[in-house]
Amino acid sequence: VNQEAPSALAALFSQDYFNNPYPAYSELRHIPAPIFIEPLNLWLISRYDDCVAASKDLRFSSEYRTHPGRLHPEAIREMVDSQKDTMVFLDPPVHTRLRGLVHKAFSPAMVQTIRGTIQQVVDELLRSVEGRSEIDLIRDVAYPLPIRVILEMIGVPLKDQERTRDWSRDILVGSDLASPEVVKLEGNKAMIDFYAYLDDLIAERRKAPRHDLLSALIEAEEAGDKLTLNELKATVILLIIAGHETTTNLIGNGMLALLENPDQMALLRQNPALIPMAIEEMVRYDGPVQTNPRVIAEDFMFGGQLMKRGQMAAILVGAANRDETVFTHADRFDIKRQSQKNHVGFGYGIHYCVGAPLARLEAQIVFKAMLERWQKIELTGVMLGYVPTPRVRALMSLPLRIG
Ligand code: HEM
Repeated sequence: VNQEAPSALAALFSQDYFNNPYPAYSELRHIPAPIFIEPLNLWLISRYDDCVAASKDLRFSSEYRTHPGRLHPEAIREMVDSQKDTMVFLDPPVHTRLRGLVHKAFSPAMVQTIRGTIQQVVDELLRSVEGRSEIDLIRDVAYPLPIRVILEMIGVPLKDQERTRDWSRDILVGSDLASPEVVKLEGNKAMIDFYAYLDDLIAERRKAPRHDLLSALIEAEEAGDKLTLNELKATVILLIIAGHETTTNLIGNGMLALLENPDQMALLRQNPALIPMAIEEMVRYDGPVQTNPRVIAEDFMFGGQLMKRGQMAAILVGAANRDETVFTHADRFDIKRQSQKNHVGFGYGIHYCVGAPLARLEAQIVFKAMLERWQKIELTGVMLGYVPTPRVRALMSLPLRIG
């Protein structure tokens, strides 16, 4: 009888894996070449150098959702139509044009201009839990913060923020390829409603432009060949979706890392100037996005393996960020490490996260405020669970005792 412990790889994409993918990543990195998972038609790319090389190589195409090999049921047509105009699912040249229209709005300098808005939302959220000894950090702070900020930036009126939040959540869950049919249909319904809502809001802004992102995008659309109306709506929806749960999970995973490493928490409390470095280390050590999906656009050799057109690839940035050849003691959460800036938690290459300056600023402001207000922060001991998907690393809740 083989008494060997089952390999972490055998647990690939099981609940154990979702709770802690790092042992499996480590095993993957020790296999010299990318490996192919036949039943999933999927290459796993886990070493840092391979992840960077694949991110730079456009034969790893981002158009996996609309690839001819992937048929989409008519029932979710609206969702598919939207994805056809969504930059993160597109290769150049269309990707380049769409990204060019928004990247300025998210530059570090532009993002600084909304510092006041972020601070205001943070203060409001922390005030709303004042006097309570137990909170759920995800529900009470980490989830509402980024969505409020991005909706303000876009120019969605406060009274409509709750429904846009619900629609974007339904779209996000419904567009997961692994979701059940009924959830996909709900996502599609949300997309239809959201589009109709945006039609009205756009009509309003055309008549009376404001200083918001929506008005700026409308201006680009009206200038002619820069942006179609459908691209405009797809871009707005992408910004809302890409910008909210990711930052939520940065706050959740980051707080958990600090609580599990009390020496690092103490260091940060003593020296808040380390916050920007700590945020970067949070993205490296236990980042919100674990894998960037691609489809192989043509047959070619990569890492000694033949990649074939139509196969999928997962660029496992979560694994690359624990690669010992780049990060010494990679499994250690060390807010002062110098190499952390090389992490690929925001992606790499032409799709590098547009919203990174915004995510960083939100995280810096909220961590500073939490550490100032809460002298005591403890886990309550309730078992922590992760959302069962390989794409993101998301705590379902983070119950804390604060004081
Ligand atoms: C900690 C928070 C965040 C993380 C970890 C994160 C991570 C990522 C990653 C890994 C990618 C690359 C995807 C790929 O290569 O396939 C990406 C792209 C993107 N992110 Fe973020 N993101 C975060 C926050 C945000 C925010 C706040 C926004 C905007 C409001 C945003 C908007 C985008 C957009 C629009 C893209 C697509 C860029 C392109 O295709 O060129 N993200 N993000």
